[in-house]
Amino acid sequence: MALQAAALVPSAFSVPKENLQGKSSASFRDSSLFGVSFSEQLKADFTNSSAVRCKREYNLRNGAVRAQVTASAPSVTRAAPDGKKTLRKGSVIITGASSGLGLATAKALAETGKWHVIMACRDFLKAERAAKSAGISKENYTIMHLDLASLDSVRQFVDNFKRSERSLDVLVCNAAVYLPTAKEPTFTAEGFELSVGTNHLGHFLLARLLLDELKKSDYPSKRLIIVGSITGNTNTLAGNVPPKANLGDLRGLAVGLNGLNSSAMIDGGDFDGAKAYKDSKVCNMLTMQEFHRRFHEDTGIVFASLYPGCIATTGLFREHIPLFRLLFPPFQKYITKGYVSEEESGKRLAQVVSDPSLTKSGVYWSWNKDSASFENQLSQEASDAEKARKVWEISEKLVGLA
Ligand SMILES: NC(=O)c1ccc[n+]([C@@H]2O[C@H](COP(=O)([O-])OP(=O)(O)OC[C@H]3O[C@@H](n4cnc5c(N)ncnc54)[C@H](OP(=O)(O)O)[C@@H]3O)[C@@H](O)[C@H]2O)c1
Repeated sequence: MALQAAALVPSAFSVPKENLQGKSSASFRDSSLFGVSFSEQLKADFTNSSAVRCKREYNLRNGAVRAQVTASAPSVTRAAPDGKKTLRKGSVIITGASSGLGLATAKALAETGKWHVIMACRDFLKAERAAKSAGISKENYTIMHLDLASLDSVRQFVDNFKRSERSLDVLVCNAAVYLPTAKEPTFTAEGFELSVGTNHLGHFLLARLLLDELKKSDYPSKRLIIVGSITGNTNTLAGNVPPKANLGDLRGLAVGLNGLNSSAMIDGGDFDGAKAYKDSKVCNMLTMQEFHRRFHEDTGIVFASLYPGCIATTGLFREHIPLFRLLFPPFQKYITKGYVSEEESGKRLAQVVSDPSLTKSGVYWSWNKDSASFENQLSQEASDAEKARKVWEISEKLVGLA
């Protein structure tokens, strides 16, 4: 039945009978079925495991809206009227909080009254409208301008944040672009292919520059979360939808993904927008683990990644053909049963931000059909420590840190 539904969507969809890790497998073009998240039953077959006052000045400069925030950081505890000490509000930056998973997470955290969310967004007015329509109370969020497709913007964001003197307790690298129908590569301000440039390199620089802020935080559980995806994991059925993620020997990344005198793809191959997205997600998951190896023991910061489920209705699919956008949500809801609402996905990411039971570092979290979290296993490539080290070192050079 799933296959019949799949046949309704354009592009090739075929199911070879040969084995994948000893089980049956499906293979189909990603441009027709991005991130197919099959039912938990099927998934199990393919994975092994189970007071701040803000003074804001908004300036329109060079066409971009910038927000400058001045604030004083509260201490970690404050006295309640009964004399008992209570935990102060946590301070969390969420990139790409203007829609989808980021917005739902901002809402879930803000609603608890325990978090102040810094919505790091490229479109200030869109973010403001989104926060209002989601019903997030004004005192629970601040919007700051961040365009991850510009390293200058990332640096400016970090400077503005530091000037705010707000503490940073959790950083969530969530924003992403997905360009499955692009025939030609497009590029960031510094000339990196847009998907890897935004999803990986922009976040890599942001996370590196904000690490000291996290280290300074006196909050009991400091976390750095980088959103991953099942589509970058070739140990899953969804991860086997061509084009598969594959960073190869990193030859394209090593020369800057500029598409001029070199390939725009990490592995040096021909441009493929869907693959570039999946490769960027592998980089996100490798980066999280490399952060863990380098900094967890000394800093106590918890580094984590996650697959929130298939949130088929988000803006991530905006570049896809209209028929895909029409059929993808019901396909995920009724056929694969991998569908997750934006609200539910936001609750999941909010758990990774704040749940006291999710404090293990270096983990890639997933959820089963009962919405219970479990530590999932990454694909061989997405858990390759040597590749993670190389991606880290090359990325440092590309973003100007080495
Ligand atoms: N949807 C799914 O099924 C699914 C599954 C697995 C993982 N994920 C992951 O979940 C995360 C969120 O995706 P989503 O589904 O919520 O998609 P979405 O609704 O399109 O959200 C993406 C966010 O990223 C922002 N963004 C894009 N380019 C940016 C840039 N250059 N600078 C700053 N922000 C930028 C967007 O801003 P604008 O509003 O200005 O466009 C938007 O707020 C991504 O990391 C994605 O890989 C999603």
